[in-house]
Amino acid sequence: MDNINKFKKPTNINLVFGFIITISIIIIVIIWYGLSNFKNTASEISNLSSKIIVLENKLASTTEDLNTNIQKSNATLSDTLKQNVGNIEQKLGAYSQEVGSYTDTVTTLQKLSKTDPQLLVKYSKVFFLNENYAPARLTEIPNEYKYSDSKVLKLNTQVWPYVKKMIDDAKKAGINIYAFSAYRSFNEQQALKGQYSVTYGAGSANSFSADQGYSEHQLGTTLDFMTQGLNGNLDGFENTKAYQWLSDNAFRYGFIMSYPKNNKFYVFEPWHWRFVGVELAIDLHNKKINFYDMDQRAIDEYLVSIFD
Ligand code: DAL
Ligand code: ZN
Repeated sequence: MDNINKFKKPTNINLVFGFIITISIIIIVIIWYGLSNFKNTASEISNLSSKIIVLENKLASTTEDLNTNIQKSNATLSDTLKQNVGNIEQKLGAYSQEVGSYTDTVTTLQKLSKTDPQLLVKYSKVFFLNENYAPARLTEIPNEYKYSDSKVLKLNTQVWPYVKKMIDDAKKAGINIYAFSAYRSFNEQQALKGQYSVTYGAGSANSFSADQGYSEHQLGTTLDFMTQGLNGNLDGFENTKAYQWLSDNAFRYGFIMSYPKNNKFYVFEPWHWRFVGVELAIDLHNKKINFYDMDQRAIDEYLVSIFD
């Protein structure tokens, strides 16, 4: 019985030993499994690290490329912008020039619309002013500027300040210049020419007196000057200081001598001065040419600036 029991029932020691063996095996399996897993994980971590480094490198190089590209783009953009701004500025410049030239044209047209178109026309036996023409405004010349108080003398209102300044400046230089004749209407010229024709004969009168409609005096821009010592006789004017002063200075005030020596219209008239504007008078003086030798179209260019 005892042997049978011994065989059938293991002892406690055997049980414990078996249990320990089993547990040990389980632990070894777990450790082996864990180690194997750890190895795999470590290898994966290592792989991942390598990949991260590769990615980091790539990221760094991509960032650098990106920065370079951004810089390039900025430079290109900036160049393009500069070019565009330059183009726009150029266009604006051209527009403002165009606007400027339109403004100039408008100003010129406005000035011309207010300027008597007859003022620079050659009226000596060439063009004709009819009996209806008279300057728009006339100013009476004050006595102190006239040779004779008894005769009323009138002048184109816009021309008067130039005459006044010229006579004043001559006076300051010790030269006395007086207005002897100024504006003459169509009818006054007709009457005067008639008297001269009676007194001197038509042929002679034609050499120094214009027919009505052909006299510059009808424009109101023209004067005959006189000085002291001639007893009101124009013939001696050529040899006076007044004539010398006018020859040297009248152009500065816009005056020209219409009938110099050897002109093709009338005798030499050193006393007869016509206002043509400072610009034209200076140009004629500098070029040493006479008003009547200039082409009418070239003269017309000066009309816009006649009172500048
Ligand atoms: N003495 C000049 C020519 C005139 O009569 O207009
Ligand atoms: Zn005259």
